[in-house]
Amino acid sequence: MKRIVLGVSGGIAAYRALDVVRGLRRSGVDVHVVMTEAAQRFVAPLSFRTISENPVHTHMFQEPSQWNVNHVGLAELGDLILVCPATANVIGKVSGGIADDLLTAVIMAARVPVAFAPAMNEAMWLNPVVRANVERLLSLGYRFIEPAWGHLACGHQGQGRLPEPQVIVEYALSILEGSGGLAGLKVLVTAGPTREAIDSIRFLSNRSSGLMGYLVAEVARNRGAEVVLVTGPTSLSPPHGVRLMPVESAREMREAALREFPGAHVVVMAAAVADYAPCRVVPGKIKKTEGPLELRLERTADILQEMGKLKDRQILVGFAAESENLLENARSKMERKNLDFVVANPAGGPDSAFGARESRAMLVWPQGKTEDLGMVPKEVLAQTILDRVEALLVSRAQ
Ligand code: CTP
Repeated sequence: MKRIVLGVSGGIAAYRALDVVRGLRRSGVDVHVVMTEAAQRFVAPLSFRTISENPVHTHMFQEPSQWNVNHVGLAELGDLILVCPATANVIGKVSGGIADDLLTAVIMAARVPVAFAPAMNEAMWLNPVVRANVERLLSLGYRFIEPAWGHLACGHQGQGRLPEPQVIVEYALSILEGSGGLAGLKVLVTAGPTREAIDSIRFLSNRSSGLMGYLVAEVARNRGAEVVLVTGPTSLSPPHGVRLMPVESAREMREAALREFPGAHVVVMAAAVADYAPCRVVPGKIKKTEGPLELRLERTADILQEMGKLKDRQILVGFAAESENLLENARSKMERKNLDFVVANPAGGPDSAFGARESRAMLVWPQGKTEDLGMVPKEVLAQTILDRVEALLVSRAQ
């Protein structure tokens, strides 16, 4: 039976860790909870004890109920240490080598993977001190699941929410199953919309938020890949530990993506690249006149199609956003662009993936195989896409 030591630190999201424990237990994982002092102000240890069905560890000098339950014993007890929620304080302490309570001492003594699920106010998450601590821990091999966007306990909207318990459970299980499955591989991800300039001020663009590509980049990083994220303009903060290449137009995206393509093992093309751009960019600002204004557009290059022609070892994953004939169009894109599989999403209607946190998705494979994933959070979709990529890599290696 797999075991996790779950560290709970003191944030309002501590109560949501109860659902994480419940989810892990349902998946057959034995969970041992360590709580910081502050965490016990938010949730009683008894709640975790009841749900984990194990004693809860709260103090460094607690009388052990079993012979080897001290910080070293606890560090050796699990196959993974998951800190959920992780406050800025606990991240800072671990980054600074401080081990002044049971949880940080357990982490200090760990030989197994340690993963953090941060949850905090957005200003704290974006604070350069916290970012530097996270970068440092990532460079030392600690893992992070990026906080989600949404309504925060402080009353603001922003990034800092603990991801959905189901997402954290899947993340933890993927580490337990040893999916550092992309270690040593380079994964190229494109994300977001492009902007095609009309004049010096105006542009044509689309409603892509970039979220899908950013999540794929984050999951690939968590699985050990070297990740390059070529991104059009978005309002998202980039995941730590990935190489970011910000671009604006389809032309710039093509240049950046094709430059990175030869060294890549996997390409996930989640960007919503403009298919047309103005034939010429008017210098300065176009002044309005009485009559209508005509814009003449020309086709942009299809980046994915070019990659499909160039590909040798690369696994190529494309997206198909369709307002009608989802399956047929996705199949034709897969063939035309020489892809390994396509993620097909409805676009434009009530289930449109554009700008949403969830997406109705269907994986379309060569030889007519399809996998209907239904409505899924994009975090889960990102995990599924990379699960399938890993399976392809394994079958090719055999
Ligand atoms: N794509 C690309 N370069 C383009 C346009 C699209 O690489 N100039 C990629 C997208 O990133 C996506 C896939 O191709 O992975 C499908 O994009 P989509 O816009 O849905 O399809 P198109 O090929 O543009 O076809 P259509 O306009 O007929 O829907």
